[in-house]
Formats: sequence, C-alpha cells, structure tokens
Amino acid sequence: MLIKAEHIYKIYKTNASFFHREKEFNVLNDISFSLDCGNTLSIIGESGSGKTTLAKILSALIPFDSGMLEINGKKIQSFTRRELSQTVQMIFQNPYASFNPKLTIGVSLSQAFDGNEDNKETVIKDKLFLVGLEKNILDKYPHQFSGGQRQRIAIARALLKNPEILIADEPFASLDAVSQTKIMDIFLKIKKEEKTNIIFITHDVAAAMEISDKILILKDGCVARYDSVSNIDKDKTDAYVNELLAATYMTE
Ligand SMILES: Nc1ncnc2c1ncn2[C@@H]1O[C@H](COP(=O)(O)OP(=O)(O)OP(=O)(O)O)[C@@H](O)[C@H]1O
Ligand SMILES: [Mg+2]
Repeated sequence: MLIKAEHIYKIYKTNASFFHREKEFNVLNDISFSLDCGNTLSIIGESGSGKTTLAKILSALIPFDSGMLEINGKKIQSFTRRELSQTVQMIFQNPYASFNPKLTIGVSLSQAFDGNEDNKETVIKDKLFLVGLEKNILDKYPHQFSGGQRQRIAIARALLKNPEILIADEPFASLDAVSQTKIMDIFLKIKKEEKTNIIFITHDVAAAMEISDKILILKDGCVARYDSVSNIDKDKTDAYVNELLAATYMTE
C-alpha cells in the first residue's frame, strides 16, 4: 500500500494578541484513506476545506496532531529529509511564489538536483524535455515566463528527485483551457513513462473524474466521501457530489 492515513487531525493555533486569546481551529478532522500504488488520487472540495493542509501533511511539510500516516508501510515521521524528498514532491498552488525571483531557472533547477553531478546536465535536460521545454530557458528568470510555462518548470523541478509521489496543488487553476489540457497531458505522460503516482488537488470535479482512479472529497476539514471514480460516477444520489459537479459546470 502506497499511502495509509488513519484518523488524522490537524489543529491550527492563532497567536494570542492584545485583543485575542490564542484560538484553536480544527482544520482537519479524522481523515482516513488508503491508496494503492498506480492509482491516481484527486482531492477535491471547496475553498478552505483543508486540501492544501492535507497535501502539506502528506509531504511532511507540516506535522499533524494525531493519527497515523504511512507511506510504503513506513511511518512518515521516520523518513529522513532526503528519503522524503525522493518519496514525495509537492508542486505548490502558486508556482511563481515557489521560485526565487533572483535566480535563473538553471540555478534553481541545479539546486534542486541531488544526484550524481556528472549526470546533472543530462537529467535536467531530460526532465525539461518531458514537460515540453528546452534548455534555452535555463538562463532566464522566473518573471520571464507565462503561468503555464512556470507550471511546467515547477513540474520539471519536482521530477528531478524522481519522487514516487507527486502532489500537484491546483495545477490547472489560472490557466486557459488549452494550457490546462497541455498540462494534463504532461501529467498523464509522467504517470505512464516515469511510473509516478500522482495526487491532484483541484476544485474542478469534472477534471478530477477524468484523470483519477480515486476521489477524496473534503468538506469543512472532514472526509465527505472517499470512493473510486466509477462508484461516484454510477451514484447520482450523493447530494454533495452533485452540488460540487453543478458548481463546476456553472463556472465553465
Ligand atoms: N498556517 C495557517 N494558520 C492558520 N490557519 C490556516 C493556515 N493555513 C490555512 N489555514 C486555514 O485552514 C483552512 C484550510 O486551508 P487550506 O489552505 O488547507 O484550504 P484549501 O482547501 O486548500 O483551500 P483553497 O481551495 O482555497 O486553496 C482555511 O480556513 C485556512 O484559512
Ligand atoms: Mg489550497
């Protein structure tokens, strides 16, 4: 089993100030799911439902308060930093903010590479090729690219570690329909060619249904539903799924 999450809880604490006492906010409540290798998962839910928080927990970027999380049968807390970076990579919601604006893409990608130095150039070139970019981009700076190009560079950077799991947080947001399709094709290619397990986070239920095997629906920090796409597709009675689907079509 690739991922096993049991009864995960996460609380955010807001700092005390002159006017307020410290407040606690339960952002994730009793999240349980498991995912087999080779299955693509989409995490969907309204804004603020806890999707990015769950993704950060799955990438061990933030701790959780209680529960259990295993990747390949091993507790996430017992991974070393290096093991973690080779196991899970997350592509952030806003790829612009995740690049240092003062560094060229070449320098950023070199810093992310942690394999044999002799292979560095070839590996970087291969990953850029996989996402449809050429090495002439390496001397440029992040602001010199479009949103879609930056998304591709962020994917290439994540792939430099050959992670087993790639978590993409809203990879299609803020892209036009044509670029969305292109980015989607890149993920499908990565899944096939690199055998990477992909977790998508998206508001777009229709896209999630198209690309994934399993769907985890979060509502107010709780699991509203965890099921296979085929079951969700067959079942037209789930009021919340229908509500989300209707919202997707309305925004198109
Ligand atoms: N560091 C933090 N400290 C306190 N509260 C936070 C923190 N990060 C997020 N939250 C709150 O936790 C809730 C869930 O946030 P999260 O970013 O996980 O939602 P999301 O489902 O990814 O939303 P979106 O679709 O808008 O990206 C929100 O109410 C948010 O305001
Ligand atoms: Mg988010």
